[in-house]
Amino acid sequence: MSIIGIESLVYGVDDIALCTQYLKDFGLALKRSDETEAVFELAEGSSVYVRSINDSRIPNSKQVGFGVREVIWGVDTQQALTALVQSLSQDREVSVDSDGTARFFTDGGLAFGLRQFTKKPIVNAPAPTNAPGMVCRLNTPRPWRTQAIPKTINHIVFAVPDFLQETAFFQERLGFKLSDYQHNVGVYLRADGTNNHHSLLAMNASMPTPGMDGQLRFHHANFGVCDLDELMIGVNNMERAGWPKSHFGLGRHRIDSALFCYLPCPAGGEIEYGTDADYVDDTWVPREWPIPLFAYSHWVQDIPPFLVEAPAWEFRYLTDGKIPKIK
Ligand SMILES: [Fe+2]
Repeated sequence: MSIIGIESLVYGVDDIALCTQYLKDFGLALKRSDETEAVFELAEGSSVYVRSINDSRIPNSKQVGFGVREVIWGVDTQQALTALVQSLSQDREVSVDSDGTARFFTDGGLAFGLRQFTKKPIVNAPAPTNAPGMVCRLNTPRPWRTQAIPKTINHIVFAVPDFLQETAFFQERLGFKLSDYQHNVGVYLRADGTNNHHSLLAMNASMPTPGMDGQLRFHHANFGVCDLDELMIGVNNMERAGWPKSHFGLGRHRIDSALFCYLPCPAGGEIEYGTDADYVDDTWVPREWPIPLFAYSHWVQDIPPFLVEAPAWEFRYLTDGKIPKIK
């Protein structure tokens, strides 16, 4: 079986028109819209749907709040899809549409689906970076960008009440691979058919941070851009369009090395531009991060109060590939 990534995200929102404008300004290409939904399509062939949270097509799950209310995962072959459906059907209801999309609820209550998906090839040409003594661009300016156009959906994050139990479901029933484990924060998981460091982050819904209330909620989705310039052009343009600013600005995570900028999103939670993340394969050795803030950021533009004091350095390799029990 091979899940190759996110085929589509379905947002449940309270204002379709407002959220459609937001995602257009964010850089997603609008394919079609009417009063009941907006549909965006990315270069890789994945899609984003925006519907009313009261739309009958939004699954009636345990999840609360606005945001992504259904994730359709792309599966590489019909055989793999059939095998996943047969396995899941052993202990839960799986409905299969006329187009072959299978829908079910995870053990934790998330509305997931599976659909055969072939990613379209995409083209990116990040400009080579210069450093003193290492000239990769001579007499060649960097390309001037005017807008951000995310080409991929890199990952999705949910706050999950029993995130370790839900992690076991993702690993054992859907084949996700452990990439990293951040104590008390969450587990980073990679769909088995992709090299993205993580496709899914199961966060601890009871983490003592704002927005976490112990309930199953959408947290954020990450959209991939080419490089730092495209990321920051996107952030600048969102501010020019009058949308709320990022709380911390630009930063680089330590845990997957990615450049990030999170923006508050009217469709729920936050939306993240991402670039220059780690790509890993089955030889990757997962790590555990006992000091969550050390994992969170290598650096950040606007230091929040919780990072004023630099966190201590600590991480360990999980050479047995298993999440340790914490006392
Ligand atoms: Fe993220």
